[in-house]
Amino acid sequence: MSTRTHSDDTPATGFARGFASLESEVEVAELPVTGELPEWLSGELLRNGPAKFEAGRRRFRHWFDGQAMLHRFAIADGRVAYRNRFLDSPALRSARDGRIRYAEFATDPCRSLFARLFTRFRRSEPSANACVNVVPNGDDTYAALTEIPMAVDFDPHTLETIGISGYDDSIGGNVTTAHPHQAPRTGDLVNYVLRFSRQSEYRIYRQRPDGRTRELLASVPTDQPGYLHSFAITEDHVVLVEFPFVVNPLAFLLSGKPFIENYRWRPELGTRFIVIGLDDGSVRSVRTEEAFFAFHHINSYVDGGELVVDVCAYPDSGVVDSFYLDRLRSGARMPVPAPMRYRVDLDAGTARSHRLAEEPLELPGISYGHRNGRPYRCAYGVGMRGHDGRDFLDQLVKIDVEDGRSSTWYEGGCYPGEPVFVPAPEAEAEDDGAVLSVVLDSAAGRSFMLALDGRSFTEIARAEVPHAIPFGFHGQFSSR
Ligand SMILES: [Fe+2]
Repeated sequence: MSTRTHSDDTPATGFARGFASLESEVEVAELPVTGELPEWLSGELLRNGPAKFEAGRRRFRHWFDGQAMLHRFAIADGRVAYRNRFLDSPALRSARDGRIRYAEFATDPCRSLFARLFTRFRRSEPSANACVNVVPNGDDTYAALTEIPMAVDFDPHTLETIGISGYDDSIGGNVTTAHPHQAPRTGDLVNYVLRFSRQSEYRIYRQRPDGRTRELLASVPTDQPGYLHSFAITEDHVVLVEFPFVVNPLAFLLSGKPFIENYRWRPELGTRFIVIGLDDGSVRSVRTEEAFFAFHHINSYVDGGELVVDVCAYPDSGVVDSFYLDRLRSGARMPVPAPMRYRVDLDAGTARSHRLAEEPLELPGISYGHRNGRPYRCAYGVGMRGHDGRDFLDQLVKIDVEDGRSSTWYEGGCYPGEPVFVPAPEAEAEDDGAVLSVVLDSAAGRSFMLALDGRSFTEIARAEVPHAIPFGFHGQFSSR
């Protein structure tokens, strides 16, 4: 296994192990821990991500197409138990049978000519491969999420799949985000669905903390819907940023191409900030000529008369293509994500931007329970030590969004995943807590769960996993 010893001309490929399938499902009562986990750190880190990239001899094409695997790190008294399990779905079962029968993000089922003609006017059945995120569901269950409007419930202790849950209401929709928010004031779960139609619309809804009933908050018409992987929320608003990576809804229904390949980069459209009032469902928008793309919002809040919208931005949508597995494994250069702030003045109809810090930042996190939708200073994420995209995301980053100062954690040949900040009980400072990340050690061919001190951003402990965990997307810590 090569490590990060490439010269300037040689692509780094040590991280390719992070895009190799992991077939084994294990249960380990106690992982070897070095260092000392804080006594107060007690609970479960649940993570989701793709772990199976082939179906027999066919290969899934894109990082986002891999079949979902759940990982659970249970932390108590300085000890860490671990288990991992595939999320059971029809898509996983057919992949195990050597077939791709369901439409993924960038891979469609391979059909015979006859079947293709027969189904020409009907999209492939979407996959229940919910590999993107997890959210607590109430009743001691969790849901695994993806970008189609359904959830796969699972037991957070055993990781056993319970089943697909849908909604018995009229909100419908074809696409959603795996990044719902909790409204800061009410605890409502807020998300949107995109409904493709002659007049497509984003339908923003909320769900009370105590029930499964959804209430439509607003419908926002759009002629050319954008690919919006996440959105932001403040104490009073929902903020959708419609990047100019857009789809023609009718072409989408007829093209026969995989989902994301129907989207086109149209920078001449600029970017639209759509702001919905949480109280009254009012809709206002500001369009800027600046064209950019982002998967992830960092945070958003009201500052004076302006709306602050922080995102991990790219100059265009090329990053979506850079995540095709063949490109990733070959070490092709990656687009570099920049932490950017947009200050949106709804009355003046303007949006001004500046960069928050020099360090690249992706897979961002904050002290969510305390700071989501509110003024904040600390953002955590993964970044690139080289700032040039020659290597994959290879360091953890903490930035102060006020003064742009940053701290990093880096170890040669190691590739960390999304950091999850866990506040210490009765924390006084925003960064008083622990930062947890699952890191691939490419030289050792294994992963470990790393704990950093939130304030100093230095290692306090690590727990070694007996196998390499493929690069995942998102997770949650639930305190006990
Ligand atoms: Fe995401």
